[in-house]
Amino acid sequence: MAGGTTYDRHYRECATACGPPFEEVVRFVRSTVREGTTVLDLGCGQGRDALLFARAGARVWGIDTSEVGVAQLQAQAREEGLPIVATVADVRTVELPSTYDVVVIDRVLHMLDDDDERRSVVARAAAVVRPGGHLLVADGPKHRASIREAVIAAGLELTTDRANRTFARRPRAAEAVVVRPMAADEADLDALVVLEHALVRSGRGQVSGPDDLADPVALRTRLVPGPGTQRWLAVVEGEVLGNAAVHRYRPQLVRHVASLDLGVHPRAQGRGVGRQLMQVLIDGARADGVERLELCVRADNLAAIRLYEALGFVIEATRRGLVRTVDGRLVDDHFMVRWLVETES
Ligand SMILES: CC(C)(COP(=O)(O)OP(=O)(O)OC[C@H]1O[C@@H](n2cnc3c(N)ncnc32)[C@H](O)[C@@H]1OP(=O)(O)O)[C@@H](O)C(=O)NCCC(=O)NCCS
Ligand SMILES: C[S@@+](CC[C@H](N)C(=O)[O-])C[C@H]1O[C@@H](n2cnc3c(N)ncnc32)[C@H](O)[C@@H]1O
Repeated sequence: MAGGTTYDRHYRECATACGPPFEEVVRFVRSTVREGTTVLDLGCGQGRDALLFARAGARVWGIDTSEVGVAQLQAQAREEGLPIVATVADVRTVELPSTYDVVVIDRVLHMLDDDDERRSVVARAAAVVRPGGHLLVADGPKHRASIREAVIAAGLELTTDRANRTFARRPRAAEAVVVRPMAADEADLDALVVLEHALVRSGRGQVSGPDDLADPVALRTRLVPGPGTQRWLAVVEGEVLGNAAVHRYRPQLVRHVASLDLGVHPRAQGRGVGRQLMQVLIDGARADGVERLELCVRADNLAAIRLYEALGFVIEATRRGLVRTVDGRLVDDHFMVRWLVETES
């Protein structure tokens, strides 16, 4: 059973109902968190962990069924100017739109109905830990065995496994990536269709939904590069697992501007494919005389925002509630820009 109502009362009565953060979590934050580290806090409550991570420089998304806990966390984040988004949602069903450096599940799993639910939430959490990233689970000793089993089954390696803490890491995998222009043939279009299906089904970073896959002919037509579009494919061990495109604006007075899109197969995310695609795309755009490069990114797509900021893109505008998720929430969308030449302003 989700604990919203019970915890609403606890949280109203005490501003720090869960006490101070656990010592192991404090040590982890000190040793691992850097500016811009992305964190998903499942069952964030009033934010004892979310606030700790954000004060150390992380960007955090917290989810909880307690409206009071979420409101208190939002208020504290606003007061301190911390990059925390907190949402009222259920960890068993909420759409997870990105991958993260760190996923935290602190004293939440014991509140679920049974081991099946616990395993399922651990599997959902583990699936969005990027390679090299961490899953931190804290709970009572009673559920330790099933939590540990679920963590290992998800392909993570245990780093701490004591009575109440199960911390684990997803191993990094080195990829041999080849980035090449998309050919004007059926084989590359077929591969792009398969990739699009995987991306849309994953929901990560998407504004397309299942309806957009329903008509195979319309999908193929949409994916064929039009005039002014240059598309690249990333090939990993013979399989197309990433793509990126630059779309040059056509009217004469805005021809120095181009927009871009980017997507890496969920199976290959967090392994350097997106960065390599972006590098090729930026070099190609500059060589073609593009001066201003634009993109749109969902505000909850923390992994992509981090990549773009690392490559010099800045947020120029935010469209409020542009995206309505399949589970009905409104999400903002950022318009990001990078100039490829020196500008006077
Ligand atoms: C966003 C996306 C394109 C990034 O590609 P990727 O291959 O997964 O990313 P890379 O492994 O190349 O990582 C490059 C950089 O991105 C950032 N990054 C990637 N995943 C991250 C994560 N989960 N948390 C924080 N930063 C992350 C880091 O800055 C990373 O550099 P680092 O490895 O030196 O820390 C990819 O995850 C994706 O396709 N997601 C779904 C679709 C999508 O979001 N498209 C963009 C829409 S605007
Ligand atoms: C013991 S508190 C821990 C809060 C926080 N993780 C911490 O360590 O301070 C448990 C939290 O889990 C939340 N919770 C329980 N079941 C949930 C569910 N299915 N989805 C989201 N949150 C849930 C409760 O509302 C509560 O805030």
